[in-house]
Amino acid sequence: MLPGSTNVPNRVMSAMLAPIINHRGDDFRVLYKAIVEKTQQVFQTNGEIILLTTSGTGAVEASVINIIKKGDKVIIPVNGEFGTRLADLIDSWGGQAIRIKAPFGENPPFEKIEEAADQNKDVKAIYAVYNETSTGTTLRYMDRIGKLCSRNGAFFIADAVSILGGDELPVDKWNIDICVTASQKALAAPPGVSPMSISSRAKKHMQSNPPPTQYLNLKRYFKYYEENFETPFTPALSLFYAFNEALDMVLEEGIDERIKRHKICAEAFYAGLYTMGLTPFAKPDAQSNVVIAVNYLPGMEDKKFRGLLSEQFKVLVAGGFGDLKGKVFRVGSMGEVNRYHVMRTLSSIASAINILGLKANPEATSVALEKMKPLQ
Ligand SMILES: Cc1ncc(COP(=O)(O)O)c(C=O)c1O
Repeated sequence: MLPGSTNVPNRVMSAMLAPIINHRGDDFRVLYKAIVEKTQQVFQTNGEIILLTTSGTGAVEASVINIIKKGDKVIIPVNGEFGTRLADLIDSWGGQAIRIKAPFGENPPFEKIEEAADQNKDVKAIYAVYNETSTGTTLRYMDRIGKLCSRNGAFFIADAVSILGGDELPVDKWNIDICVTASQKALAAPPGVSPMSISSRAKKHMQSNPPPTQYLNLKRYFKYYEENFETPFTPALSLFYAFNEALDMVLEEGIDERIKRHKICAEAFYAGLYTMGLTPFAKPDAQSNVVIAVNYLPGMEDKKFRGLLSEQFKVLVAGGFGDLKGKVFRVGSMGEVNRYHVMRTLSSIASAINILGLKANPEATSVALEKMKPLQ
């Protein structure tokens, strides 16, 4: 139950047993074209798709170095580790990140972003971490940022690494120019593939201003795809097989159904944890449907609690980052998550709390079960 890497279905794991083929041959071209078309469906975009053989950070970095030039102004909400990292990356690449900060666990008010955009008409882009994995918060106004960007002529770039496939994300409808995710989170594939979607105007910009780098220079990816349905560098073939299978599973379930399942499981988690006597770290209007960050009660020591969960109940949850270390634990409710995972996690948390000598309300699991009735 980690917020990535998540459990990978056997069907997806087995797909990796397919033979290693020539990545400059027709078999690969057929595979790659199919993956691109399915990825477009999952991202809900007609834009270009690039599949990097990297973890999510590679694609996030590509979204910066292919767009940002020295002195470019960028607005970015910052309310956690991944927003902080991204803003620092923009600065280190020569951009000027205008950070719209909020206390961790909250989203900055949209009006602050609008205000910054009004004061900086020459802003090149707005970057946003849609789901801040470190705090369990989700920006619930991505559509409004999209409208703001189209009004101002700025690029809209979304880090959707920990959310795509687990919550609403209609890329074209929300006017997102670049959307970045990673295979190992809500798409439930092994780590190592990072797909990104790119609008035609972002592509045009990238082609006329490529970065002085090789591996993450996206102009090369466009060229190889257009000429031959290939990638410029050797793709991680086995991971591509797995990712292809994972996309099939997403499309077979249906995107809306998948999002509904994630929402129901998240509601069950929040309700069950609350009944148990625990509180979410995120404020109610910012709570994520894919990463549930939970405040520790006095007497719940991080290492001991997570050690109990892992050793006695074989349930893995994550700890907190930076300032939140020791203060929260984080449950990944994404990918394969279903009633079984929610019930087993909640009952293990309740048992661990009891072992620590605190009292967990035993009603928690029945409250969660009730919430998950629509999944039956
Ligand atoms: C929102 C967000 N962005 C970026 C990353 C970095 O992804 P990776 O660890 O795959 O490089 C993560 C990883 O958890 C993330 O949650």
